[in-house]
Amino acid sequence: MKKIIIGAVVVVILAIGAYAYFQKQSNNNNPVSVPGNGPGVEVGSAPIPGIADGSVPGKPTQTDTYTLSEVAAHATKSDCYTAIRGSVYNLTSWISQHPGGAKAIEGLCGKDGTDAFVKQHGGKSKPEETLAGFKVGKMVQ
Ligand code: HEM
Repeated sequence: MKKIIIGAVVVVILAIGAYAYFQKQSNNNNPVSVPGNGPGVEVGSAPIPGIADGSVPGKPTQTDTYTLSEVAAHATKSDCYTAIRGSVYNLTSWISQHPGGAKAIEGLCGKDGTDAFVKQHGGKSKPEETLAGFKVGKMVQ
């Protein structure tokens, strides 16, 4: 019985070794692999539309455009867009995090918030950087 178990273990180890060896061989011999792309990366395969540029279907990108009335469609604290200096920001998740209080942000939802933001924070690095992180696009007429 002991011999059978030892034999089985040896067979399994040999099988794993052989599998690993052949995996390595087939990657090295891959005719379409290119240095720098790593083994097995195909060259010239068609990009997947809408994915290759890093965009996610249905998710806003920084190049989207909005009219003021489109911004106005996001005027609640559970869906809050604002326009500041010609760019559009989705501040929904910032409402509950704002050190200056939720109300200050809620008051900007669906509106042009330029005056309020610039008056309070214009040119200050922390608020400017935070704001930039929420950009979803640009304003158009
Ligand atoms: C519209 C987007 C806004 C963003 C992204 C923003 C961001 C920030 C940030 C990052 C801070 C912390 C500053 C620090 O730690 O140095 C802050 C603080 C504060 N914010 Fe805002 N804010 C916005 C709008 C407003 C508005 C409209 C008001 C008032 C009407 C306001 C009033 C305040 C106050 C009173 C503080 C605490 C004191 C200070 O650090 O200046 N914020 N905000």
